[in-house]
Amino acid sequence: MINRAAPTDYDVVVVGSGIAGLSAALSAAPRARVAVVTKGALDDGCSRYAQGGIAAAVGDGDDPELHYQDTIAAGRGLCHPEAVRVLVEEGPARVRQLIEWGVAFDTQDGELLLAQEAAHSRPRILHARGDGTGLEVETALIRRLRASGARVIEHADVTGVLTTTDGAACGVSITTNPAESHTTTLSSSAVVLASGGASRLWRNSTNPESATGDGVALAYSAGADVAGMEFAQFHPTALAMDGAPRFLISEAVRGEGAWIVNRDGRRFVLDVDPRGELAGRDVVARAIWEELERSGEPCVYLDCSPIGARAAVRFPTIAATCARYGLDIARQPIPVSPAAHYMIGGVRTDLDGASTLPGLYACGEVANSGVHGANRLASNSLLESLVFSQRAVHAALGWASESPPGQPGSMTRTSSPRASLLDPREGWSTLRDALWTGAGVVRDESGLRAASGKCEAVRVATSGATTLPTMQLHAAASTASLVCAAALAREESRGCHLRSDLPQASDQWHGDLVMHKDRGARFDRHL
Ligand code: SIN
Repeated sequence: MINRAAPTDYDVVVVGSGIAGLSAALSAAPRARVAVVTKGALDDGCSRYAQGGIAAAVGDGDDPELHYQDTIAAGRGLCHPEAVRVLVEEGPARVRQLIEWGVAFDTQDGELLLAQEAAHSRPRILHARGDGTGLEVETALIRRLRASGARVIEHADVTGVLTTTDGAACGVSITTNPAESHTTTLSSSAVVLASGGASRLWRNSTNPESATGDGVALAYSAGADVAGMEFAQFHPTALAMDGAPRFLISEAVRGEGAWIVNRDGRRFVLDVDPRGELAGRDVVARAIWEELERSGEPCVYLDCSPIGARAAVRFPTIAATCARYGLDIARQPIPVSPAAHYMIGGVRTDLDGASTLPGLYACGEVANSGVHGANRLASNSLLESLVFSQRAVHAALGWASESPPGQPGSMTRTSSPRASLLDPREGWSTLRDALWTGAGVVRDESGLRAASGKCEAVRVATSGATTLPTMQLHAAASTASLVCAAALAREESRGCHLRSDLPQASDQWHGDLVMHKDRGARFDRHL
């Protein structure tokens, strides 16, 4: 048990219940007082939708060094090498721990089955239930968490990070009633943000409703640095059928041999990269985007016929979802187009998940740890969540035991009390259209300026939030505005930040854009 002179409710509050949050809480629960706060039910986390799996160098003939090289190459010069080292070297131990915790990865003849995904130099993706990896991992971790003694607070929105008078995080305020602004305070020695991504801020997204970037807004508003907000990754192949959700068609389908073709059946990605369907995600998304612009068609197609009848066995969730919309993936091509999928940018953290605000830690998609650079390598995100959540919570507990308790000071909210005249539904619609149109797969200055103006207008109009729906919209608008500002500032194309008006990468931009609410933006050049 952590020893602190002034009693707090908890040693650590973990915000979020995806794989990063669950893993952080499980690592802390045996030795500390832990609360997990989650927006929905415990099992609503974004990670459960992960299909492709977890990349780790565990196979015969693989090596963390090879995984390191692939990750660095995908990141287009902006990965933090020391963070990637940590990821690839600690990754295999985290995978073994998952197996000890009861996760059943798919095997064949007693050996782990490893899949191929784009830009990996060899098959190294562990998966479970075929294409249900996230669900399998979350189910095992939730079972363990329920028995761990950690307190779980469901259906609660975090509306602010509490800070001491000397500027350290010391808990969170939460609200559980959408109709009221009434908040409850949870005091803690440290806070670990694991609240997931922001891709649901775009009109077309593979993510669940909850992925609206509120963790970034909370940390920024409390005074932490955020970085890399211009790097929103678009998945090349989301289901594109009228009336169907933008359901993810995993990269692993291409890894098994499926082709991307246009209406005439031509594999056009080969025109831009000899690796074709297995080129980096940024290359494939751009190729599809340009094909759609050129042809005026609403989608291209994923042709699974090279996989044959095996496709439905290997990808049961994808086959069942497509079947629900009348599509037999073994016989009919799947209509697909890009959709917002993963936010690389986030709360700037060091190798131990520490943000620049003392006592505040971040891990998983809400963090910008430096492992993904300008373009995330497929299936590195669950690994990042596992590796850095454990580092973050370990460091948070160390901080909690060593730092003297401060006097609770201000609660930093993402808004100040004033009435808002904006209808939240209209505000959400404005944000989502603005980002999709102006800050989509390919952007330019005028589109970004227009998007920025719209997001800022929503942010300002909701700064008087007194009810939870308006506070949520305000947080989303704050994060969306950071995306636009960063994408405008980075005057080059690199990885998943593609500017049609500035199509080349520039040495001048070899570094990270870091933003702070009082100090503005700065550029941290890589050496
Ligand atoms: C996929 O299965 O294609 C998604 C995996 C990922 O985003 O890493």
